[in-house]
Parts: sequence; structure tokens; C-alpha cells
Amino acid sequence: MENMKLIDSYGRKINYMRLAVTDRCNLRCRYCMPAQGVPKVTPQEILSYEELYLVARTAVSMGIEKIRVTGGEPLVRKGILEFLNRLSSISGLKELVLTTNGLLLEEMAEDLARAGVQRLNISLDSFDQQTFKEITRCGDLKKVSAGIAAAEQAGIPVKINMVVMRGVNDAELLDFAALTLKKPHAVRFIEYMPTIKEENWQSLVVPGSEILERIAQKFTYKNLDHAELAGPARNYHIEGAKGSIGVITPLSGHFCGDCNRIRLTAAGTVRSCLFSEREYDLKPFLRAGDAAAVKVALRRIVGDKPGQHQITSTEADHQAFAMSSIGG
Ligand code: GTP
Ligand code: 5AD
Ligand code: SF4
Repeated sequence: MENMKLIDSYGRKINYMRLAVTDRCNLRCRYCMPAQGVPKVTPQEILSYEELYLVARTAVSMGIEKIRVTGGEPLVRKGILEFLNRLSSISGLKELVLTTNGLLLEEMAEDLARAGVQRLNISLDSFDQQTFKEITRCGDLKKVSAGIAAAEQAGIPVKINMVVMRGVNDAELLDFAALTLKKPHAVRFIEYMPTIKEENWQSLVVPGSEILERIAQKFTYKNLDHAELAGPARNYHIEGAKGSIGVITPLSGHFCGDCNRIRLTAAGTVRSCLFSEREYDLKPFLRAGDAAAVKVALRRIVGDKPGQHQITSTEADHQAFAMSSIGG
């Protein structure tokens, strides 16, 4: 069985797939897309649920154990609950999780729990309405707070993703850390990544080491173990807290050596690395309903997965891209 698994040329076991079900989003986060927006994936290019299901089922048969549904904002796509329900019954899939901006959670949390979603990662970058609006360009913070409460109520464990940006929201670091004293959430501080390559992006980056030093000035914390199937965060527990904190350091301390994932974009291409322009189009095989060809393609994609990306806290030579079509 082991030789059927997806192992890349660096010996990394690929068991985590991120599925972007749409590039549409009800926010316009400044770190995700430029002010003028980005070209939309056409309706013809977007994969149908049937096609997405075929990728998922095939990938699970090859050793994918965790699927994270992403977007855009996955909850804006019509029919998402039925699709999640179908995904959750794929035999061999151990974890079905979803990343959302939380805007629609108040209405949908109960249904997501019923559909089999085991955990939610919710993007929230500020507790201040004004700052939240500046970052998301249009969002209503109250809706996200109500969404987080609804997820809790529905019994779904929550992670909060805060993209830390110097001079924008980094003054709130300690408030986010303090949230874990009262709530059982995992709060993760993410280094800003120059995906869209905005001017002077370097000035926005707060390295993970600085984030931890600033938290240590107020709180005592200890390391937590890295769970199997976990993503890239390094996690800690503040003394007396109900939840945990974590840092994700794609720039200052990249985690490529442990990378266990591939991504399906909203347009039906696979990216084996977030920062690699090499994309492989699965659509022709999916449109033909050819599972065997999808298998061959996935094995080739994993075989070609780069060892690591080259982005640092000061240099980025990749082509700019919007996270909304790739799913983060
Ligand atoms: P869990 O550990 O399962 O909760 O998931 P996760 O942290 O992988 O998922 P999430 O969607 O919450 O992503 C958190 C942040 O990590 C986002 O900013 C992602 O873009 C970033 N991230 C996730 N995977 C990678 C990766 O392979 N490379 C880079 N550079 N960043 C990643
Ligand atoms: N830098 C860091 N994190 C980002 N995300 C989106 N764009 C960026 C970026 N440029 C995060 C979102 C979401 C996750 C999927 O990716 O905040 O939580
Ligand atoms: Fe913001 Fe996520 Fe929407 Fe991008 S896809 S605009 S990061 S909520």
C-alpha cells in the first residue's frame, strides 16, 4: 500500500490537499488582492462539484488524508453544504476542514457541523472596526464575531488566522494572544507574505521571532508538540489559557522541509507549491471523467514538487498572484 502513496522527490509524504472551490469572495483583503481587484475565473473554467469530488476521491485513494476546503470564500458558493456532506463520506479521509472569513458563519455554522466539517480556520486580522475595514476594504467585523460565536455554539473547534502587518494591526498582537485566555481557540499569527507584491511590502513584515518576543513581554508560554496532519504553525500555550497561540513563518523560517500539501486552484489547476508558477491543468481529465488520468497527473505533480520556495523577508522574485484563486 505504501508504494501507492504520494511521496515527492525529496521524500516528503503528501497527505494534505487544499481545495479552492471558488475564487469569488465577499471581502477584498489588501494582502490578498490589489485595490483594482483581479480577473475572475470564468464560469466555464470553474470546476463543477462533480469534478471537485472526482479529484478529492482520487486523491484520497492515493493517500490524501486531510482536505481543507478554501476559496476565495468557500461559503459563498451555492451548494457548498451538499458538497461538503459528500466529501465527508469519502472513505479514508480523516480530516475535513475549512478556511473562511467568517462572514456567513452565523447562518451556516450548524449546517457545516452537520455536513461533517471538523474544524474551521477563520481569518480575522483586527478587533477594531476601523482597522478591520481598512484591511478588508468592505467587511463588517460584527458579522465575523457573530460567526465565531456560532461556530463555538455548533461545537466546531476554531482557529483564528491573524495576518500581522507592521503599522496596520501589529499593535493588537497582545489582544489576540489574550483571547486564548478566555476562549479555547487556536490563534495563529501569520507573517505577511508578498503574494501581490505591493510596494514597500518589506515594511509590513513582522518576523515570527519578534511576534513571540513581544508576546513574551506580557505572557509566559511553553511549546506544544506538532500534531500529525498539522499545517505549518508552531504552537504554544500561554500559562492558564484555554486555547493556544501559534506562529506561521513562511518568510523568516520557511517550513518547506516538512511540507505535506498540494493545492487545487479554483480554475482546476494544481500548484504543488504556493510560490511556484508551475501549474498543471487537471480540467481535461476531469471533464472526461478520467480518474486514471487524474491519478497519473497527481503523481507527476507530486514528483515535480519543488524542494522549497525562495522568498525571504526582503526578496521576492515570484510572479504576483492573488491568494483568492489559490486558497492560501
Ligand atoms: P491547519 O494547520 O490544518 O489548521 O491549516 P493551515 O494552517 O495549513 O491552513 P490555513 O488555511 O489556516 O492557512 C494558514 C496560513 O498558512 C495561510 O496564510 C496560508 O497561506 C499559510 N500557508 C499554508 N500552507 C502554506 C504553504 O505551504 N506555504 C506557505 N508559504 N504558506 C502556507
Ligand atoms: N500573507 C499571509 N497570509 C495570507 N492569507 C491570505 N493572503 C495572505 C498573505 N499575503 C491568509 C488569509 C487566510 C489564509 C488562508 O491565508 O488570512 O487566513
Ligand atoms: Fe480576504 Fe480570504 Fe477573501 Fe482573500 S479570499 S479577500 S484573504 S477573505
